[in-house]
Amino acid sequence: MRRVIVIGIGTGNPKHLTMQAIGALNGLDAVFIPRKGESKADLAELRREICRRFLTNPATRLVEFDLPVRNPREPAYGKRVTDWHDAIADLYCDLIAAEADDATIGLLVWGDPSLYDSTLRILERVGAKAGFPFAIDVIPGITSLQALAASHAIPLNDIGAPFMVTTGRRLREEGFPTGTDTALVMLDGECSFTALADAARYTIWWGAYLGMENEITVSGPLDCTAEKIVRTRETARARHGWIMDIYLLRRNL
Ligand SMILES: C[S@@+](CC[C@H](N)C(=O)[O-])C[C@H]1O[C@@H](n2cnc3c(N)ncnc32)[C@H](O)[C@@H]1O
Repeated sequence: MRRVIVIGIGTGNPKHLTMQAIGALNGLDAVFIPRKGESKADLAELRREICRRFLTNPATRLVEFDLPVRNPREPAYGKRVTDWHDAIADLYCDLIAAEADDATIGLLVWGDPSLYDSTLRILERVGAKAGFPFAIDVIPGITSLQALAASHAIPLNDIGAPFMVTTGRRLREEGFPTGTDTALVMLDGECSFTALADAARYTIWWGAYLGMENEITVSGPLDCTAEKIVRTRETARARHGWIMDIYLLRRNL
């Protein structure tokens, strides 16, 4: 039976790879390397760099392919994502089928596959479409939550308290989450912290390209720091052509 190993690679620093991940990488027949277009060429390059550094098994092949893109003309967000996942599942189905029926195949997933990543959901679809069985294993990786906490040397939670992980869109549309004083915000292309009423009530710890050479961090009271983050983010995004950032917002007690 074919086996797909979903390997968390951390957030952009090859040194985030665990010994377990390196071991798994070297047991693969094929590593799939998705290309996500010119603007995200760095992300495919990081996967190649990981293979250059850690892959010592000469029998492991790198299989590169262009990842389908979302259809910008589809107005409904849910359908746009579902169609996109379906297209990726079709492609994975073909790529996995092209491997030997006892092959071990690796997918290198940014951060950890459990956190705002659809690889495991897409593989579920592949399972429903494919005319052959395959097993799935997961190797955990360092998440952007951990990278943020490490770079600022802060704990995520207050003593005995919960925290919420959410998206920029939800923060913008629903305001600060209820039931917690700590929100971790991901996937925010619009600096949604600027939409919070009463910024003086919050402290922010923000980080972009965490773990990478060009890592940037900014922290402080939200009312004094928000503008600096917006400017820093704009400049960095223009310079690199892409940005990934995350932040922790804590309500001051
Ligand atoms: C599609 S999610 C993937 C999350 C990933 N699976 C993880 O474990 O962190 C992408 C979001 O993760 C965050 N992120 C991932 N890598 C990051 C990095 N190196 N620096 C800052 N934020 C990062 C950003 O909020 C980005 O929008």
